[in-house]
Amino acid sequence: MRPEIEDLEPSGIARIALPRFTDPDVIPLWIGEGDTITAEFIREAAKRAIDEGHTFYAHTRGRAELRDAIKAYLDRVYGIDLDPERISVPGSSMMGITLAAQMSVGHGRHALIVSPNWPNIENTLRATGADVSFVRQRVENGRWHLDAQDIIAAVRADTHAIYINSPCNPTGWIVPQTTLESLLALCRERNIVLISDEVYHRTVFDRDVAPSLITLAGDDDPVIIVNGFSKAWAMTGWRLGWMIAPARYATHIAVLSECFNTGAPSIMQFGGIAALRDGEALVETLRTQYAGARDIVMEVLGRHPRVALPQPEGAFYAFPRVDGIGSSLAFAEKLLQEYDVGVAPGYTFGPDNDEHFRLCFAQSHGRLTEALGRIVACIDARG
Ligand SMILES: Cc1ncc(COP(=O)(O)O)c(C=O)c1O
Repeated sequence: MRPEIEDLEPSGIARIALPRFTDPDVIPLWIGEGDTITAEFIREAAKRAIDEGHTFYAHTRGRAELRDAIKAYLDRVYGIDLDPERISVPGSSMMGITLAAQMSVGHGRHALIVSPNWPNIENTLRATGADVSFVRQRVENGRWHLDAQDIIAAVRADTHAIYINSPCNPTGWIVPQTTLESLLALCRERNIVLISDEVYHRTVFDRDVAPSLITLAGDDDPVIIVNGFSKAWAMTGWRLGWMIAPARYATHIAVLSECFNTGAPSIMQFGGIAALRDGEALVETLRTQYAGARDIVMEVLGRHPRVALPQPEGAFYAFPRVDGIGSSLAFAEKLLQEYDVGVAPGYTFGPDNDEHFRLCFAQSHGRLTEALGRIVACIDARG
C-alpha cells in the first residue's frame, strides 16, 4: 500500500453515518442530499434510454447530445458562448474533482484548500501524494468571509492547485465576484490550477445563480470548473457531473477518464439531458423548498443562546458553532444514539471546526422541524 493511501482516514461523515446508513429510525441530516426522489420526467428519460438499448460504452468525455445540452444550459444561465471543447462529462462531479486533482498535483506539490471544506476534497488531494494545507473562512459581523489576501498569503512556492467551493459546503458562503477576479489573477500569474467546485451554483437564495469563474476564465486560464446534477436537480444517485477546462486539457481528461471510469454511465446521461432541457421549474421548486428549510433552521438554531450560526447564503447546510459542545464527534454520536438524528461532526471539515456540526436541511419541513427539536434537546442536555 502506498503510504499516502494508508494514511487516509474515513471522513467523519462516513464514520458516523455508515453504521446506521439506511436505518428508518434515524432522521438523516448527515449526507448532502434531501428526501426528494428525482423528478419523474428525468426518471422516464432514463427508462426510455434502457428500452431503446442505450446500454453500451459512451464517449469518454460524455455523449455529444449531453455536452450540447450542457453548453446550451450554461450559455443561457450565464449569458456566455462556451467553446464545447471545454466541456467533459467523466462521471460524477466527484470524478471531475478527482481528475482535476490528478492533473494538477502529486508528490512534491502542494494544494491549498479553502476551508471549512467537504472532507472528500482533502482525501482526494492527499491521495495524489500532494501536501495539503488550508486557508480558513472566518465569521465577521455574523457572516462567513474570506479575503483574497488571505489566500494569496497562504500560497507557497510549490503550490500547484487551489481548491475553492462556492456556494460552500458546509458554511453556505458565496464567494464575491471580486474575490474570484483576484484569485484568477493570482493563478494566472503563478500558473496555479484553480479548481472551482460549483455544484451548488443554483442552490442560492437571493439570486438565480452564484458568481462563477465560467464568466471570467478564458480558454488560456488554468481553471477547472466542476459542476453536476446531484444538487440542483436532486440526482445524487445518478453519479453525473461535468468539468469545464481549457480545451488543451481535453485529451488528458479523456485519457484519465478511461483510466478511472471509462466515462459516465450511458443510461444516466439521458436523464441529465432531460434535466437540463426541461428542469428549470424543478430547480426553482427545489430552491424554494430549501429556502423555507433554511428559514426554519435559522428560526430554531439561529436564536439559541449557545449557538452561533451565520445565515447560509447558498448550498443546503447549516454549520453552527455550539458553545461547550466538547468534541464534535462525541456530540454527533450522542445525538445519534439518544435522539436518532444524524449530523456530521465539525472536526471533519478541516482544522478548527471541532465546536461545529453540519446538518443538511434539504428535508421535508415536518421532518426537519422534528429533527431540530431533538438537536436543541441534545444541546441543552450537554449544558
Ligand atoms: C462541495 C461538493 N463537491 C462535490 C460534491 C460531489 O457531487 P457529486 O454527487 O456530483 O459527485 C459534493 C457532494 O456532496 C459536494 O458537497
